[in-house]
Amino acid sequence: MSEKIKDKFFEIVDSINDQIIKIRRDLHSYPELSDDEKETSKMVKELLEKYGYEVKKFDTHYGLIAYLKPNKNQKTIAIRADMDALPITEQTGKEYASKIDGVMHACGHDSHTAIALGTAIAFSKIKDSFNGNVRFIFQHAEEGEGGSLDMIEGGALDGASAILGLHAYPYLPTGQIGYKYGVMMASADMFTIEIFGKSSHGARPHEGVDAILVTSMIVNSLNHIVSRRIDPLHPAVISLGTIEGGKTSNIICDHVILTGTVRTVNDKIRNKIPDMMRESIKGVCKSMGAKFNFDYTFYYPELINEKSMVNLLVKEATNIIGEQNCIDLKDPVMGGEDFAEYLKVVNGTFFRLGTCNENKQTCHPQHNSKFDVDDDALKIGMKIMGACAIEFLETSVPATLPNELGCFAKY
Ligand code: NI
Repeated sequence: MSEKIKDKFFEIVDSINDQIIKIRRDLHSYPELSDDEKETSKMVKELLEKYGYEVKKFDTHYGLIAYLKPNKNQKTIAIRADMDALPITEQTGKEYASKIDGVMHACGHDSHTAIALGTAIAFSKIKDSFNGNVRFIFQHAEEGEGGSLDMIEGGALDGASAILGLHAYPYLPTGQIGYKYGVMMASADMFTIEIFGKSSHGARPHEGVDAILVTSMIVNSLNHIVSRRIDPLHPAVISLGTIEGGKTSNIICDHVILTGTVRTVNDKIRNKIPDMMRESIKGVCKSMGAKFNFDYTFYYPELINEKSMVNLLVKEATNIIGEQNCIDLKDPVMGGEDFAEYLKVVNGTFFRLGTCNENKQTCHPQHNSKFDVDDDALKIGMKIMGACAIEFLETSVPATLPNELGCFAKY
């Protein structure tokens, strides 16, 4: 039964493909930054309403939740797309290149929005022939802060038992997807360290407390945490991104600010790192007579794909693109993605959609001014999303509990 529904769904996807490519290119031409996705959100809402969706919008942000046939008595699967762009000046030279100065869809969220819209349109056309509910989450501010948390707070996952998401991926050719069991992406946290010393004449350092020297020792000691205090079998990164301090060459500096990021793929390690950092900073400052402030913010958790949902993805993708084109990514990456927040609430899986095509210059890395997505990947994304959702709703994929975190053993 579900195979027939899927065949019909695929037929519809093929028939609307040109429309979706046009939407993707229009979105690409008019990108909007995080928390500024006003016109994108308006276009998405109007289009979904045209196809019979009930769309919930918010006063505080531009995210949307779209319901096809809200029926509380049936299983619900959610499909999420992010809509925001980046502050980068596009250099692709393509005819649909960004028309907005200094703003660019350099992470492929234009393709994510277009794929989710196409999937939604195709579902609207088979509305009465499948069981369960499909819900679409068009999320604001993935590149910014808290987009997914706003959506969850706004009810995006209420009553849902699973979620699917994808990301355009220039490291795989168009026609392939990448999947990963367990931890797929790292947690992403941020920190700021402020060092307070005492200024004095550069020729009389003994009368001051040199915040630059203290900072250099802190930089050194922070780099010992990953190499000497964390089990080498657990990947972790502590990177300093900025360092600012000092007024002029002959004054002992009294104030330095450092910022950086921490990445881990294990919650237990993640929770220990701020304390380890604080101990190191405190020890150095104490020995040198300096004071400090240390701010640590937990941002995105690790992204953990649930086994039965990955199985479902691999099975459906194999039917669509063939086993040889479904690539087990095996290793997690240390990049972060706020889809991880949804996966802390319900089971689901995120996957990589290959978009590299040398002939179309779509193999540049994400967040690069020449990044673009191969439009031929869009229908693969729509078909896989659709088939997974149909299969999930039509069959009884085991509804296991959300993952226990800190699951090193899963990858
Ligand atoms: Ni992205």
